[in-house]
Amino acid sequence: MERVVVLMALLGLLLASATTLADKDDWDIYSFHINSTVSSRYATTVITSRVANRMNDSKEIEFHVRIPKNAFISKFRMLIDGQFYDGVVKGKEKAQQQYTEAVSRGQSAGLVSSVGRTMEEFKTSVTLAAHKKVTFELTYEELLKRRLGKYELQIHARPMQPVKDFKVDVYINEKAGINFMEVKGGLNTKALANAITRTHVDKQAWVYFYPTEDQQKTCDICGEQGLNGDLVIAYDVNRNPSLGDIKKSGRYFVHHFAPSNLASIPKNVVFVIDQSGSMHGKKMHQTRIALIHILSDLAEEDHFGLITFDSQVFHWKRELVQATKGNLESAKTFARQIVERGSTDISRAVLEGTRMLNAHPREGSASLLILLTDGDPTSGETNPEVIQSNVRRAIAGKFPLYCLGFGFDVNFEFLEKMSLQNNGVARRIYEDSDADLQLTGFYNEVATPLLTDVTMIYNGGANLTETNFSRYYNGSEIVVAGQITNNDIETFTPQVIAISCNKRVTFSDINATVESMEEASDSSIQRVWAYLTVKQLLEKELVLSGPEKENAKKEALDLSLKYSFVTPLTSMVVTKPQGENTDVLHKPREGKNKEGKRQRTQSTVFSTSLIVMHGYPGPPIQTMMNSQQDDVDYDDFEHHALLVSAADLPYYDSINIQPTIVSPRATDAPLSHRFLQKTENLSLPLCFDVTGNVQLKLLHHPSGELFVNGQLDSVANGGFRRINILLKTDLRVEIDTEKVLLIEGQRISGLDRYISITVGSLTLFSREKEIDVAVGDTRMVILIHKENGKDFLWPILRQRPLDDNVSGILALKPAVYEDVQQSPSTRLKIKGQDYDATRASAVDYSINPSPTEDCWLMSAESALQRSLEDFIVT
Ligand SMILES: *[C@@H]1O[C@H](CO)[C@@H](O)[C@H](O)[C@H]1NC(C)=O
Ligand SMILES: *[C@@H]1O[C@H](CO)[C@@H](O)[C@H](O)[C@H]1NC(C)=O
Ligand SMILES: *[C@@H]1O[C@H](CO)[C@@H](O)[C@H](O)[C@H]1NC(C)=O
Ligand SMILES: *[C@@H]1O[C@H](CO)[C@@H](O)[C@H](O)[C@H]1NC(C)=O
Ligand SMILES: *[C@@H]1O[C@H](CO)[C@@H](O)[C@H](O)[C@H]1NC(C)=O
Ligand SMILES: *[C@@H]1O[C@H](CO)[C@@H](O)[C@H](O)[C@H]1NC(C)=O
Ligand SMILES: *[C@@H]1O[C@H](CO)[C@@H](O)[C@H](O)[C@H]1NC(C)=O
Ligand SMILES: *[C@@H]1O[C@H](CO)[C@@H](O)[C@H](O)[C@H]1NC(C)=O
Repeated sequence: MERVVVLMALLGLLLASATTLADKDDWDIYSFHINSTVSSRYATTVITSRVANRMNDSKEIEFHVRIPKNAFISKFRMLIDGQFYDGVVKGKEKAQQQYTEAVSRGQSAGLVSSVGRTMEEFKTSVTLAAHKKVTFELTYEELLKRRLGKYELQIHARPMQPVKDFKVDVYINEKAGINFMEVKGGLNTKALANAITRTHVDKQAWVYFYPTEDQQKTCDICGEQGLNGDLVIAYDVNRNPSLGDIKKSGRYFVHHFAPSNLASIPKNVVFVIDQSGSMHGKKMHQTRIALIHILSDLAEEDHFGLITFDSQVFHWKRELVQATKGNLESAKTFARQIVERGSTDISRAVLEGTRMLNAHPREGSASLLILLTDGDPTSGETNPEVIQSNVRRAIAGKFPLYCLGFGFDVNFEFLEKMSLQNNGVARRIYEDSDADLQLTGFYNEVATPLLTDVTMIYNGGANLTETNFSRYYNGSEIVVAGQITNNDIETFTPQVIAISCNKRVTFSDINATVESMEEASDSSIQRVWAYLTVKQLLEKELVLSGPEKENAKKEALDLSLKYSFVTPLTSMVVTKPQGENTDVLHKPREGKNKEGKRQRTQSTVFSTSLIVMHGYPGPPIQTMMNSQQDDVDYDDFEHHALLVSAADLPYYDSINIQPTIVSPRATDAPLSHRFLQKTENLSLPLCFDVTGNVQLKLLHHPSGELFVNGQLDSVANGGFRRINILLKTDLRVEIDTEKVLLIEGQRISGLDRYISITVGSLTLFSREKEIDVAVGDTRMVILIHKENGKDFLWPILRQRPLDDNVSGILALKPAVYEDVQQSPSTRLKIKGQDYDATRASAVDYSINPSPTEDCWLMSAESALQRSLEDFIVT
């Protein structure tokens, strides 16, 4: 039979998903396990997939998974007919020959390729004879990095079919004790919640996720292909406030240093913002939002500068100034008015930023330069090497340079090299709706310097990883690994010297005990050392030149081979059963490929095509009525409708909105949102369903020139995704669960989540769990509910306008009805007419925590006493 050619990553993704669809009945993944063990922040993950070919013909079977970019694959094997086929890590040049041969025959190539922000694809395939089975087993390793106070282990589960025996197990073992742990990610949804179990006792945690086959088909991010999403386990550990933890096993040690009981050092920060033509549109808009947000976060003791550039450099102010309220307001105004134009003179801009910082020495402060650009240098000095050497000379190690590369047109390698040469890091900002959050997220990581000029000293230690760090930021961590000379703990004395707010500080602990790990994990510390050493050598290789570069490269290659890491310098060669081609697996290098754009687009298409949104198949209403007496937990159903309630508020001030959902059984039916309309007295409220993710008219008050609309979410637990408030046509406020946007004509400002502002007749007061909005004499509260890690909005009308010329769902008057008949079916009389009704229930989200209430379910038209169309905004 025809062999499917998989030369891939790019085109292959779409092709592969199509192939999978067509073939899904032919081969059966009967078991899929992901087993991750984390010990001292070093995670080793094994993915095991067992597949049977149930057909009478031989079949090409694919193994296709995603692993974190930061990880190194260290092992891959296949088991067919009792025989193992092991992947072997070879130097890239050696592997290249086999690879080229295979490719030239047009037949082969499994590849590891970059997808999305944090993951890489690993893909291979094997032809399996009729009625045979194959087991694929892939192992990868990574050192978890502490960011903003936590470590995150990301596990991507996408077996490509619903699997009978599906398991994800994560074991975390931290000697120091785990002080918090949370499970996040797309798979942590309500529908899957009962499949996730977490146990956490002091030093150990075990999270396991065993969804049933049914759950794999019906969760909101699953489809016919089963699960496709992430599970993210975030945690942090207790630590010795001073020197931190030192662990040893065999001759190797690892030191985790992350003190937090220090005062923050005032910053001098200069933002250098690209405003060249290519930033046009959304990128510029998101940059403005992020910048305004970041400026709001500066402390009064900080000093800052802001310059923008295209082919010229524009100053907000020529010198750094203190972050006083007035200066910040003026800088924000400047930021709001940044417009894109012209070409990109990166060199001039960075040198000007450097000049400003150099001209502003300040005792006991920490300086940093942040460059944001989306392109190559195109005007002024354009030779990357000349720019790098000029910048390096100008900065002269005095402060770190952080480069943020926005989108995929940047020369990321150039930015990365320039950052690394100046004690900083480069980060890619992905063009997406959350780019502003990526920018502010990065800034937050470097927002609180606690130490500068950190030197880690280990008397009695050797073969150390990096020991000098120019900055230590709150929420991060410094990790050093090495060997203990002669394995002699007595003479091994660790010490850290650094500068904290102008003072030299020493961290040492005469009583420091170097914890020995048990034999079983003997090799793990050694692998941490190898992992860190290889990562750092790869960075050095990028920055260095000449023989030094070659040395770093050789050392990194030797270690990669010794520890069997698939790095950018090595490849894994997978030899298959006779008659089949050899696969060669390469690891891509971030920023090296400009095809990134294509890959990403492809992967976006790919994942979208796999995500089939639908509701949880709750029982039909009749069943719910019965099962209610059996005390069924209604939280098992997706709650997705709205409840209009009068609660115990005074008459008229009293329409609350609240969702619960009851989805029809058919999986392809649209989501249904249930609204509940309370009564004046204590009789049962009415409820009705609205289908589809429509935009609803919440409150229209034409004489007050106020219009509030709400966009229903299209996913489980959705409620409202966004609420728009329009005022006198020229002011618009867009509220979602993460931010508040204020749009005045052409001007758009992203507001701090915790803010109180007044613009004209509008006052907005945003707190953690609610946003209060007052316009004239109308008052609304928008509650932010959090359920299983997902946020959604619930508007409540607290005070109706006095002239009461309002319409919309929030303005509904309490229901008035009479029961006219209870059996065999219920009929209610409203305004003299009879309507059918059924007993159902909904959750009251106007109260936190939200109780479940009974209600009479009837058609929207009957409950509203008018067409539902009147409440839908088109
Ligand atoms: C996961 O891996 C660990 C360590 O290799 C092992 O002890 C454990 O039994 C494995 N768990 C499963 C469910 O395979
Ligand atoms: C496979 O072969 C058997 C015996 O030859 C036959 O009964 C069966 O229908 C075949 N199955 C398929 C799926 O073709
Ligand atoms: C550092 O972070 C910790 C934990 O988030 C916090 O308690 C502490 O106040 C922070 N320190 C400074 C100086 O901001
Ligand atoms: C580390 O810093 C110390 C003092 O700050 C310096 O003497 C030493 O040369 C530095 N080491 C490296 C490898 O840069
Ligand atoms: C450091 O590494 C080198 C090369 O692997 C090795 O020869 C040497 O013994 C190591 N030093 C110590 C103190 O272990
Ligand atoms: C070291 O141990 C001694 C005795 O156990 C104790 O008195 C002393 O406070 C300890 N020093 C530190 C820095 O923990
Ligand atoms: C509520 O009011 C309606 C209409 O006035 C009336 O028919 C019904 O009996 C009342 N229910 C209660 C519990 O008072
Ligand atoms: C109420 O609003 C309608 C438009 O929706 C308008 O025609 C009418 O004049 C308003 N009435 C009052 C009293 O403001």
